[in-house]
Amino acid sequence: MKDIIAVKLGGSIITNKRKPWSVNKEVLERLCSELAESGKRVIVIHGGGSFGHPLAIKYQLAEKIVKGKEWSGMVHEVRKAMLILNDIVVKALENAGINVFSLQPSSFVVMDKGEVTYFDVTVIKRVLEMGLTPVLFGDVVLDVSYGFSIISGDKILVNVVRDLNIKRAIFVTDVDGIFLYKEDERRRILIDNISIDELRDLVKLLRQEPSDATGGIIGKLQSLMLLKGTSCKEVLIINGGVPDLLRKALIGESVKGTRIII
Ligand code: IPE
Repeated sequence: MKDIIAVKLGGSIITNKRKPWSVNKEVLERLCSELAESGKRVIVIHGGGSFGHPLAIKYQLAEKIVKGKEWSGMVHEVRKAMLILNDIVVKALENAGINVFSLQPSSFVVMDKGEVTYFDVTVIKRVLEMGLTPVLFGDVVLDVSYGFSIISGDKILVNVVRDLNIKRAIFVTDVDGIFLYKEDERRRILIDNISIDELRDLVKLLRQEPSDATGGIIGKLQSLMLLKGTSCKEVLIINGGVPDLLRKALIGESVKGTRIII
Protein backbone atom coordinates (compact mmCIF):
# COMPACT_ATOMS: atom_id res chain seq x y z
CA MET A 1 0.00 0.00 0.00
CA LYS A 2 3.06 2.22 0.11
CA ASP A 3 2.47 3.99 -3.20
CA ILE A 4 -1.13 4.83 -2.49
CA ILE A 5 -1.99 8.41 -1.59
CA ALA A 6 -4.96 9.29 0.62
CA VAL A 7 -6.79 12.36 -0.68
CA LYS A 8 -9.47 14.20 1.28
CA LEU A 9 -11.71 16.39 -0.84
CA GLY A 10 -12.92 18.88 1.76
CA GLY A 11 -16.58 19.81 1.89
CA SER A 12 -15.49 23.45 1.80
CA ILE A 13 -14.09 23.09 -1.70
CA ILE A 14 -16.43 20.59 -3.37
CA THR A 15 -19.58 22.27 -2.02
CA ASN A 16 -20.65 25.80 -1.32
CA LYS A 17 -20.80 25.78 2.48
CA ARG A 18 -22.97 28.89 2.58
CA LYS A 19 -25.71 27.38 0.45
CA PRO A 20 -27.28 24.07 1.55
CA TRP A 21 -27.30 21.30 -1.05
CA SER A 22 -25.02 23.10 -3.49
CA VAL A 23 -22.04 21.50 -5.21
CA ASN A 24 -19.10 23.41 -6.68
CA LYS A 25 -19.55 21.38 -9.82
CA GLU A 26 -16.75 22.85 -11.92
CA VAL A 27 -14.21 22.58 -9.14
CA LEU A 28 -15.26 19.02 -8.29
CA GLU A 29 -14.99 17.97 -11.93
CA ARG A 30 -11.58 19.60 -12.33
CA LEU A 31 -10.26 17.97 -9.14
CA CYS A 32 -11.45 14.58 -10.36
CA SER A 33 -9.69 15.15 -13.71
CA GLU A 34 -6.50 16.09 -11.87
CA LEU A 35 -6.73 12.88 -9.82
CA ALA A 36 -7.06 10.91 -13.05
CA GLU A 37 -4.31 12.81 -14.91
CA SER A 38 -1.80 12.26 -12.10
CA GLY A 39 -1.86 8.55 -12.82
CA LYS A 40 -1.44 7.88 -9.09
CA ARG A 41 -3.36 5.30 -7.10
CA VAL A 42 -5.47 7.03 -4.49
CA ILE A 43 -8.08 6.52 -1.84
CA VAL A 44 -10.60 9.34 -2.00
CA ILE A 45 -12.36 10.58 1.12
CA HIS A 46 -14.82 13.45 0.97
CA GLY A 47 -16.37 15.70 3.58
CA GLY A 48 -19.92 16.84 4.15
CA GLY A 49 -19.88 20.54 3.27
CA SER A 50 -23.32 21.98 2.64
CA PHE A 51 -24.86 18.50 2.57
CA GLY A 52 -23.85 16.92 5.90
CA HIS A 53 -23.07 19.85 8.17
CA PRO A 54 -26.28 21.94 8.16
CA LEU A 55 -28.38 18.90 9.11
CA ALA A 56 -25.85 17.63 11.65
CA ILE A 57 -25.89 21.05 13.32
CA LYS A 58 -29.68 21.34 13.11
CA TYR A 59 -30.09 18.02 14.92
CA GLN A 60 -27.15 18.73 17.26
CA LEU A 61 -25.55 15.46 16.32
CA ALA A 62 -22.20 16.87 17.36
CA GLU A 63 -23.47 17.68 20.85
CA LYS A 64 -23.19 14.06 21.93
CA ILE A 65 -26.78 13.71 23.03
CA VAL A 66 -27.84 11.29 20.38
CA LYS A 67 -29.61 8.54 22.23
CA GLY A 68 -32.77 6.57 21.90
CA LYS A 69 -35.01 5.54 19.09
CA GLU A 70 -36.42 9.00 18.43
CA TRP A 71 -33.06 9.99 16.99
CA SER A 72 -32.91 7.37 14.32
CA GLY A 73 -34.93 9.47 11.84
CA MET A 74 -32.58 12.42 12.20
CA VAL A 75 -29.51 10.24 11.95
CA HIS A 76 -30.93 8.72 8.81
CA GLU A 77 -31.47 12.18 7.29
CA VAL A 78 -27.84 13.19 7.81
CA ARG A 79 -26.60 9.88 6.42
CA LYS A 80 -28.92 10.26 3.44
CA ALA A 81 -27.54 13.75 2.76
CA MET A 82 -24.03 12.29 2.74
CA LEU A 83 -25.11 9.52 0.37
CA ILE A 84 -26.55 12.10 -2.01
CA LEU A 85 -23.24 13.99 -2.05
CA ASN A 86 -21.34 10.72 -2.36
CA ASP A 87 -23.34 9.84 -5.43
CA ILE A 88 -22.37 13.17 -7.02
CA VAL A 89 -18.68 12.67 -6.16
CA VAL A 90 -18.69 9.08 -7.44
CA LYS A 91 -20.24 10.16 -10.76
CA ALA A 92 -17.67 12.95 -11.17
CA LEU A 93 -14.82 10.49 -10.51
CA GLU A 94 -16.28 7.99 -12.97
CA ASN A 95 -16.70 10.69 -15.61
CA ALA A 96 -13.01 11.50 -15.17
CA GLY A 97 -12.24 7.88 -15.99
CA ILE A 98 -11.57 6.57 -12.48
CA ASN A 99 -13.00 3.16 -11.57
CA VAL A 100 -14.38 3.67 -8.10
CA PHE A 101 -16.01 1.61 -5.39
CA SER A 102 -17.78 3.61 -2.72
CA LEU A 103 -17.98 2.33 0.87
CA GLN A 104 -20.13 3.78 3.64
CA PRO A 105 -17.94 4.09 6.78
CA SER A 106 -20.78 3.34 9.23
CA SER A 107 -20.68 -0.26 8.01
CA PHE A 108 -17.09 -0.78 9.20
CA VAL A 109 -16.54 1.81 11.97
CA VAL A 110 -17.68 1.95 15.62
CA MET A 111 -16.94 4.79 18.03
CA ASP A 112 -17.07 5.30 21.79
CA LYS A 113 -17.55 8.84 23.14
CA GLY A 114 -16.69 10.22 19.71
CA GLU A 115 -13.42 8.28 19.39
CA VAL A 116 -12.88 5.46 16.93
CA THR A 117 -12.73 2.06 18.66
CA TYR A 118 -13.24 -0.20 15.64
CA PHE A 119 -12.16 0.47 12.07
CA ASP A 120 -12.07 -2.48 9.70
CA VAL A 121 -10.05 -1.95 6.53
CA THR A 122 -10.54 -5.46 5.10
CA VAL A 123 -12.89 -4.42 2.34
CA ILE A 124 -10.94 -1.24 1.51
CA LYS A 125 -7.85 -3.43 1.04
CA ARG A 126 -9.75 -5.81 -1.20
CA VAL A 127 -11.08 -2.92 -3.30
CA LEU A 128 -7.50 -1.70 -3.80
CA GLU A 129 -6.29 -5.20 -4.68
CA MET A 130 -8.96 -5.33 -7.37
CA GLY A 131 -7.46 -2.19 -8.90
CA LEU A 132 -10.39 0.01 -7.95
CA THR A 133 -10.35 3.36 -6.15
CA PRO A 134 -12.12 3.29 -2.77
CA VAL A 135 -14.29 6.31 -2.02
CA LEU A 136 -15.17 7.00 1.63
CA PHE A 137 -16.90 9.95 3.30
CA GLY A 138 -17.81 11.57 6.62
CA ASP A 139 -20.72 9.69 8.15
CA VAL A 140 -22.84 9.10 11.25
CA VAL A 141 -21.69 5.89 12.93
CA LEU A 142 -22.69 3.82 15.95
CA ASP A 143 -21.26 5.07 19.23
CA VAL A 144 -21.48 2.65 22.14
CA SER A 145 -21.85 5.46 24.72
CA TYR A 146 -23.74 8.16 22.82
CA GLY A 147 -25.81 6.07 20.43
CA PHE A 148 -24.40 7.78 17.35
CA SER A 149 -21.43 10.02 16.55
CA ILE A 150 -20.26 11.86 13.51
CA ILE A 151 -17.00 10.72 12.01
CA SER A 152 -15.34 13.41 9.92
CA GLY A 153 -13.60 12.63 6.66
CA ASP A 154 -10.40 13.77 8.40
CA LYS A 155 -10.69 11.07 11.05
CA ILE A 156 -11.47 8.51 8.38
CA LEU A 157 -8.37 9.55 6.45
CA VAL A 158 -6.16 9.28 9.52
CA ASN A 159 -7.41 5.77 10.33
CA VAL A 160 -7.06 4.60 6.74
CA VAL A 161 -3.53 6.00 6.46
CA ARG A 162 -2.49 4.35 9.73
CA ASP A 163 -4.08 0.96 9.10
CA LEU A 164 -2.95 0.65 5.49
CA ASN A 165 0.59 1.97 6.08
CA ILE A 166 0.11 4.84 3.65
CA LYS A 167 2.96 7.33 3.37
CA ARG A 168 1.36 10.47 1.96
CA ALA A 169 -1.94 12.25 2.42
CA ILE A 170 -3.31 15.39 0.78
CA PHE A 171 -6.09 17.57 2.14
CA VAL A 172 -7.74 19.60 -0.59
CA THR A 173 -9.38 22.63 1.01
CA ASP A 174 -10.56 26.13 0.09
CA VAL A 175 -7.53 27.84 1.64
CA ASP A 176 -3.80 27.82 0.85
CA GLY A 177 -2.90 25.99 4.06
CA ILE A 178 -2.41 26.86 7.73
CA PHE A 179 -1.74 30.51 8.44
CA LEU A 180 -0.04 32.22 11.36
CA TYR A 181 -1.20 35.70 12.24
CA LYS A 182 1.70 38.01 12.99
CA GLU A 183 0.18 40.54 15.31
CA ASP A 184 3.12 42.96 15.24
CA GLU A 185 3.16 43.05 11.45
CA ARG A 186 -0.64 42.75 11.18
CA ARG A 187 -0.49 40.14 8.51
CA ARG A 188 -0.89 36.42 8.13
CA ILE A 189 1.83 34.21 6.83
CA LEU A 190 1.40 30.80 5.30
CA ILE A 191 3.21 28.03 7.15
CA ASP A 192 4.88 26.13 4.33
CA ASN A 193 6.65 23.46 6.39
CA ILE A 194 5.91 22.31 9.92
CA SER A 195 6.70 19.19 11.93
CA ILE A 196 3.92 17.31 13.65
CA ASP A 197 5.40 18.26 17.06
CA GLU A 198 5.43 21.95 16.17
CA LEU A 199 1.89 21.57 14.93
CA ARG A 200 0.81 20.03 18.25
CA ASP A 201 2.17 23.09 20.09
CA LEU A 202 0.41 25.36 17.62
CA VAL A 203 -2.95 23.63 18.07
CA LYS A 204 -2.73 24.34 21.82
CA LEU A 205 -2.48 28.06 21.05
CA LEU A 206 -5.31 28.15 18.57
CA ARG A 207 -8.67 29.14 19.86
CA GLN A 208 -11.59 29.06 17.52
CA GLU A 209 -15.24 28.35 17.85
CA PRO A 210 -16.04 25.20 15.90
CA SER A 211 -17.45 26.41 12.61
CA ASP A 212 -19.08 23.09 11.74
CA ALA A 213 -20.24 19.79 13.18
CA THR A 214 -16.76 18.25 13.28
CA GLY A 215 -14.70 21.01 14.91
CA GLY A 216 -13.44 23.08 11.96
CA ILE A 217 -9.70 23.52 11.41
CA ILE A 218 -8.83 22.62 15.03
CA GLY A 219 -10.73 19.34 14.68
CA LYS A 220 -8.73 18.66 11.51
CA LEU A 221 -5.37 19.40 13.12
CA GLN A 222 -6.21 17.36 16.22
CA SER A 223 -7.07 14.38 14.02
CA LEU A 224 -3.68 14.70 12.33
CA MET A 225 -1.90 14.24 15.67
CA LEU A 226 -2.89 10.57 15.52
CA LEU A 227 -0.50 10.13 12.60
CA LYS A 228 2.58 10.56 14.78
CA GLY A 229 4.50 7.32 14.92
CA THR A 230 2.72 5.81 11.91
CA SER A 231 4.05 5.00 8.45
CA CYS A 232 2.88 8.37 7.19
CA LYS A 233 5.72 10.70 6.24
CA GLU A 234 3.93 13.83 5.09
CA VAL A 235 0.57 15.49 4.91
CA LEU A 236 -0.10 18.35 2.53
CA ILE A 237 -2.86 20.92 2.91
CA ILE A 238 -3.50 22.64 -0.41
CA ASN A 239 -6.01 24.93 -2.06
CA GLY A 240 -8.25 23.05 -4.48
CA GLY A 241 -9.38 26.34 -5.98
CA VAL A 242 -6.01 26.69 -7.73
CA PRO A 243 -5.97 24.72 -11.00
CA ASP A 244 -3.39 21.95 -11.37
CA LEU A 245 -2.19 22.14 -7.76
CA LEU A 246 -3.65 18.77 -6.81
CA ARG A 247 -2.14 17.03 -9.85
CA LYS A 248 1.28 18.52 -9.12
CA ALA A 249 1.04 17.63 -5.44
CA LEU A 250 0.10 14.06 -6.33
CA ILE A 251 3.11 13.57 -8.61
CA GLY A 252 5.40 14.97 -5.93
CA GLU A 253 6.12 18.46 -7.29
CA SER A 254 6.59 21.10 -4.68
CA VAL A 255 3.45 23.26 -4.48
CA LYS A 256 2.11 26.16 -2.48
CA GLY A 257 0.50 24.88 0.72
CA THR A 258 1.33 23.60 4.20
CA ARG A 259 3.51 20.51 4.41
CA ILE A 260 3.34 18.68 7.71
CA ILE A 261 6.29 16.40 8.27
CA ILE A 262 5.28 13.49 10.45
C1 IPE B 1 -18.68 15.69 7.89
O1 IPE B 1 -17.45 15.33 7.38
C2 IPE B 1 -19.65 14.54 7.88
C3 IPE B 1 -21.01 14.87 8.38
C4 IPE B 1 -21.41 16.05 8.72
C5 IPE B 1 -21.93 13.75 8.48
P1 IPE B 1 -16.23 16.40 7.38
O2 IPE B 1 -16.16 17.06 8.71
O3 IPE B 1 -15.01 15.69 6.92
O4 IPE B 1 -16.72 17.45 6.28
P2 IPE B 1 -16.03 18.79 5.74
O5 IPE B 1 -14.94 18.38 4.83
O6 IPE B 1 -15.50 19.55 6.94
O7 IPE B 1 -17.14 19.51 5.05
